[in-house]
Amino acid sequence: MPGTKGFVREITLPQVHDARGDLTFIEGGTHVPFTIQRVYYLYNVPVDSERGGHAHRELEQVIFALSGSFRVKIDDGYDTSEYWLRDPRRGLYMSRLVWREIDSFSQGAVCMVLASHHYDETDYFRDYSEFRAAVAQ
Ligand code: TYD
Repeated sequence: MPGTKGFVREITLPQVHDARGDLTFIEGGTHVPFTIQRVYYLYNVPVDSERGGHAHRELEQVIFALSGSFRVKIDDGYDTSEYWLRDPRRGLYMSRLVWREIDSFSQGAVCMVLASHHYDETDYFRDYSEFRAAVAQ
């Protein structure tokens, strides 16, 4: 049913640029379409590491490369796409029901994630076939 299909979209944040450097800010509900309840970040990531490999029942997230770069592979249960994040101003919004895998980390990459809810393991689909079954419902 189309109503249960997840989606992604790119988000560009404001930038205040002057001779002292660049400043970017994020306001929950304004620059990201939810109230931010959690922030987490990945760092010290080995370049051959693969992260993600799951989807969420309800959680919405926006992912940024604060430093360095990495690839985000997206699967909504119907179509696949991939995004390279490398600009700290540009994030990828992921709705619920989006299977994501993150790899090809550059040396020293920092991946920051804004999330709509606190951590809850019961919100995860960690099994791909379970995810596919939920999307098809
Ligand atoms: P996981 O979401 O599987 O990481 P990734 O998607 O980056 O591969 O989480 C890895 C571990 O960290 C897992 O044991 C759950 C724990 N964790 C928390 O305790 N709180 C959090 O906010 C997150 C994102 C993970």
